[in-house]
Amino acid sequence: TERELDEIYAFAVQLGKDAGKLLLEAAQSRFNGSGQGAQAFEEKDSAVDIVTKTDEDVEAFIKTSITQKYPSHAFIGEETYSKGASRAYLISPTTPTWCVDPLDGTVNYTHLFPMFCVSIAFLVRGRPTIGVVYAPFLNQLFTACRGRGAWLNETQRLPLVRNPTIPPMPANAPGGCVFSCEWGKDRRDGPEGNMTRKVESFMNMAAEVGSRGGKGGMVHGMRSLGSATMDLAYTAMGAFDIWWEGGCWEWDVAAGIAILQEAGGLITTANPPEDPLTAEIPEVRLGSRLYLAIRSGGG
Ligand code: IPD
Repeated sequence: TERELDEIYAFAVQLGKDAGKLLLEAAQSRFNGSGQGAQAFEEKDSAVDIVTKTDEDVEAFIKTSITQKYPSHAFIGEETYSKGASRAYLISPTTPTWCVDPLDGTVNYTHLFPMFCVSIAFLVRGRPTIGVVYAPFLNQLFTACRGRGAWLNETQRLPLVRNPTIPPMPANAPGGCVFSCEWGKDRRDGPEGNMTRKVESFMNMAAEVGSRGGKGGMVHGMRSLGSATMDLAYTAMGAFDIWWEGGCWEWDVAAGIAILQEAGGLITTANPPEDPLTAEIPEVRLGSRLYLAIRSGGG
């Protein structure tokens, strides 16, 4: 019911705040001058796929809190997921499911680049319904629940950046856009894994989108935040016009999708070479590796 959903939303927001506080404390103690182990991490699937003790501790905290409060709900988290397991089981179409990345932007966290956050999503029938994203170093809390809008720090409705003269893409994409694209973790060579090629094709798409706006392909800038969750939150905010990444997991995007959609943005699965201006925007399906997000016009 709607009342239950409100209760779960309030619980998720408080959980996000508490988990973010843990992240901040852990970051401060890693970098408090002792230097000892400040950058300690372990490698997972590859040398660029890393995990810290903080990821594990914060996920354990979130998982315990959820399973105590909602024992019948399913839980999937980045650090709980066992390597090589089938992805098919991840999102249940029937059981309400929590999908959590305790620390999105682990590389940023390890290098003390402030763009890292906790990301908590609640899925109903497989759809991201509640999203809570908290970046404690930046003091930015993004929250959304289906039908209740998307918010920054609980007071400012998203999108923040409204420009009615720039209509929502892809209807009439102008130049002067800011695009974001992540480099991901796949360093293999070849058509699927070559990140240089991936980013190059995205830049071509960006230039193409820019040129349709009649400004000779001019794009104000390209960014790479190092956190797929923050990319989605910033697209929801209106700071980014488009974000694209190939290589995401469910926990990288689930909360961000809820926030972006409540802010009126669009998200789909698409490859950069496809034409984002004429492409149909089918309902996003978690389980893809590729995502393309487009901000709302906000007008
Ligand atoms: C990663 C970040 C990164 C993205 C990767 C993610 P993690 O998550 O969001 O920006 O490129 O696809 O896996 O490992 O920092 O939680």
